[in-house]
Amino acid sequence: MDRKMVADNSYWIGYVDDRKVPFHRLILEKGTTYNSYFLDTEKPTIIDTVDISFGRSFVETLKEYIELERIQYIVINHVEPDHSGGLPALANKAKDAVIVTTELGAKELKEMYKLYNREFLIIKDEDTLDIGGKTLQFFETPYLHTEETMITYAVEDRALYSCDIFSTHIATEKLFNDLVKEDIIEDFKGYYSLIMHPHRPYVQDMIEKIRNIDIKTIAPSHGYILRDNPVKYIDIYDEMSKPKEDKKALILYSTMTGSTRKVANHISEELKEKNIETIVMNIKEDVDLGEVREKIKESDAIFFGSSTRYADMVGGIEKVLKMLKYMKLEEKIGVAFGSYGWSGEAIEIINDYLRNTDIKLVDSSYVIKFTGIDNLQFPLRVKFAPKKEKIEELKESARIVKDILVG
Ligand SMILES: Cc1cc2nc3c(=O)[nH]c(=O)nc-3n(C[C@H](O)[C@H](O)[C@H](O)COP(=O)(O)O)c2cc1C
Ligand SMILES: [Fe+2]
Ligand SMILES: [Fe+2]
Repeated sequence: MDRKMVADNSYWIGYVDDRKVPFHRLILEKGTTYNSYFLDTEKPTIIDTVDISFGRSFVETLKEYIELERIQYIVINHVEPDHSGGLPALANKAKDAVIVTTELGAKELKEMYKLYNREFLIIKDEDTLDIGGKTLQFFETPYLHTEETMITYAVEDRALYSCDIFSTHIATEKLFNDLVKEDIIEDFKGYYSLIMHPHRPYVQDMIEKIRNIDIKTIAPSHGYILRDNPVKYIDIYDEMSKPKEDKKALILYSTMTGSTRKVANHISEELKEKNIETIVMNIKEDVDLGEVREKIKESDAIFFGSSTRYADMVGGIEKVLKMLKYMKLEEKIGVAFGSYGWSGEAIEIINDYLRNTDIKLVDSSYVIKFTGIDNLQFPLRVKFAPKKEKIEELKESARIVKDILVG
């Protein structure tokens, strides 16, 4: 039998699933593997199992390595059935094995597999376990990608059994990243983006925990075992999960009696609510163009507003608009808005100005193409002072701009 060794006396005992596997509303075009590990120590230990569809064959394979009754510990890093699915079949044979998992993990496993008469060992962050010849240390990694999750570090082997974390969905028989010729980074990053990125603050917490341990091999539960340059893969997670620079919005408006200011303030309130740093500026005739220029440079989204007076703009907003053609705006998004009485030409004139710069203009056409939403009007046109219903609409529009901004 071809034994795949991960470390001394530690073997891969998983399953290569080359079907197009349906998973999390996706189809894994390249299949996947369920990596389970057998640590052949004085207290023989299994780390994670395989998908529920392959539980029985998993147990059969394992018999070629050990008499199942001798197994002392079954470590379950993550309860999802693509890893814990082999547990009922295994636990049934390994009658005395203690199941090692987090508190929530134990609660969920008991309910899922009716494991009421089993001994569980509940671990807390950084707890260790002597398995006779090897020491395991556990780290809780909540929400990566479900709440109960943990990872297991084999101290002497410097091997990190990281379950879903650092995984790749690919059906590979080669298994070790140093044996594969193709570049695996794209698949590795693709997996990260789908499964881990939605939980990125927790990814940062996890990295902080494992930065202090010396890692020679990362043995995850799907796809490649990373024994060539594992740190590179931790760095990829670190880089991709780092909070990106905060986005800023600037709302410039000119008004006669304050209705356009109200519009500006409603937009600002909603953007701030959504954690976008937002500055509102009243642009009067005697505007300090230098100051406005600096504020525009620092901003990612800029709203330009004016009410309409005899079919034209008011205040100093046109001076600002004239300055734009000398500025570099291609990375920024622009939105026109204003309060008006019956025709609202000023809003359209502002929009025309913006269209003639290299700013990314958010108009109705852009919004439909970006979001598929067709019931919001861009530029933002408000008759007189905004009323209740219009305020809601303005807030929704602000949220759309925020979505475009943070992409
Ligand atoms: C002198 C004057 C001229 C106006 N001309 C227009 C106009 O040409 N077209 C229009 O749609 N509204 C016109 N309005 C209506 C204002 O645009 C409307 O009252 C708006 O809500 C004012 O907003 P503000 O308080 O931000 O200036 C005019 C209002 C005034 C007082
Ligand atoms: Fe999972
Ligand atoms: Fe998984």
